Amino acid sequence: MGDTPVGCRPVSSSAPTPVPSLVIAVDGTSGSGKSSTSRGVAERLGLRYLDTGAMFRAITWWMLQHGVDVHDAAAVAERVDEAVIVSGTDPASPTITVDGTDVAVSIRRDDVNAAVSPVSAVPEVRTRLLRLQREVIAAAATGIVVEGRDIGSVVVPDAPVKVYLSADPAARAARRTAEEGSADVEATRASLLARDRIDSGRATAPLTRADGAVHIDTTDHTLAEVIEMVVALVEDAGART
Ligand code: DC
Repeated sequence: MGDTPVGCRPVSSSAPTPVPSLVIAVDGTSGSGKSSTSRGVAERLGLRYLDTGAMFRAITWWMLQHGVDVHDAAAVAERVDEAVIVSGTDPASPTITVDGTDVAVSIRRDDVNAAVSPVSAVPEVRTRLLRLQREVIAAAATGIVVEGRDIGSVVVPDAPVKVYLSADPAARAARRTAEEGSADVEATRASLLARDRIDSGRATAPLTRADGAVHIDTTDHTLAEVIEMVVALVEDAGART
């Protein structure tokens, strides 16, 4: 499948962006299985894939690189339009660059983990990335699986399929630790619970189960099972329309 990155200089229009008819919104906490599930569903159904968490991480990485105090919302807001973020939406090899630099690995570092929730809570950051997310979604003619925290509630509230994934903190920490190749499960658990608290408590677009979202607790399911459940929801939605 060819890759179709979409760029993101700020645009002035506030007109709503048309979205493709098949958007699958996958929200949930860190480590709930969102990324693996979303990529698996997109590959199964021949759809594009967008990881919006990677976009928030990318803008956070840029702020850190430029010495912006990530706990100073006004300072973050002032620089928010400067980073050029490009997301590649091939589910087999999603990419993310900032000002032309591949940041796929660096956005998973501890310094970004610690800074991403405060940066994501800044309304100007959310406005900028919302516009960009909608541009990427609109470019996905065949349909797209979009993962994040506010996809079903804010980014694409009309998505025909909405899923909210959760899992026990212990299972989430174990998965994230394995993904990050780290040995410290307890530190990973503390880091993701701290992010949950900020992501769920912020004023703008908090993590929430959207109206109409189907809740899947992934704790006791394999990845293959969860992918099957979401594919079945998509098939049901198709049957209903
Ligand atoms: O999915 P992730 O753990 O890579 O996301 C990193 C952070 O980005 C998460 O702690 C909150 C933020 N985020 C958000 O606020 N809204 C989204 N749609 C996606 C992620």
